[in-house]
Amino acid sequence: MMCECVNFTEGEFYQGHFDSRAYVQNFYSCPRGHSDEKDFLSFVLGCLSRTFSTGKHKGQRLIDVGSGPTIHSVISACDFYEEIVLSDFTDNNRREIENWLKHEDGCFDWKPVLRYVCELEGKSPSDLETKLKQRIKKVLKCDVRLENPFYPNTLEPADCVITSLCLEAACKDIETYHYALHGISKLLRPGGLLVMVGVLGETFYKVDEQLFSCLRLSQSNIEDALHGLGLSVHEFNILKAEDWENSSVSDFEAVFQLVAQKQPY
Ligand SMILES: C[S@@+](CC[C@H](N)C(=O)[O-])C[C@H]1O[C@@H](n2cnc3c(N)ncnc32)[C@H](O)[C@@H]1O
Repeated sequence: MMCECVNFTEGEFYQGHFDSRAYVQNFYSCPRGHSDEKDFLSFVLGCLSRTFSTGKHKGQRLIDVGSGPTIHSVISACDFYEEIVLSDFTDNNRREIENWLKHEDGCFDWKPVLRYVCELEGKSPSDLETKLKQRIKKVLKCDVRLENPFYPNTLEPADCVITSLCLEAACKDIETYHYALHGISKLLRPGGLLVMVGVLGETFYKVDEQLFSCLRLSQSNIEDALHGLGLSVHEFNILKAEDWENSSVSDFEAVFQLVAQKQPY
């Protein structure tokens, strides 16, 4: 099944139709992720853990672009960056994170995912949760279709930018994708690290019954875009989907995590 969306579902559609709570419940309730997407989340968490837990990459500022209602992408990094900014286009997503930060009643429970990362890294879940909450300083509105995704704010150059499953959901065509990646690379200081999680070959995904479109990408689409911006790709880790023809929740062919570095001058 290919996406039957007539129009690509851009940010404005997310603002009206993205059910933040259903999204985290469906995809982030347990460390494996959605039951139809075998080991998707544990692969992502494992890659992020391997990238950060050595302590090789560290700095003052980390920005996560297009966080949605999630915090999992910065769990392994939070020990190594003093100030973490999360961001998303959609108000309800930012609110969902704020509720978790403020320990609001009924907020989403990230403990199973935190426990999983702690098992990988030999850490205490409650210490890690406290550290994470201390270090997430802001949850900002962003729009990756803008030259400066944080306009009218200008953020200080970051030592690390993470983005997970956002660009392929936000960009209706490859030109927009290139433009968005350019904007993201400008958030980094020279020599800074870009860590991206994404999907290859996906045209749609669903949150409950609501369909969202996805820009169909190949590994070389992404590598070409990064090289064109002067970023060198250090790692491109891939997990191929099994049985994706029979999954009703999405049609991704593979999930990837990459580590790239902006030129140091
Ligand atoms: C599939 S979710 C990914 C969320 C999360 N990062 C994750 O890994 O699960 C896609 C996200 O992209 C956001 N988004 C869509 N258009 C956007 C835009 N133009 N700028 C920034 N974020 C956008 C949506 O609000 C949504 O939270």
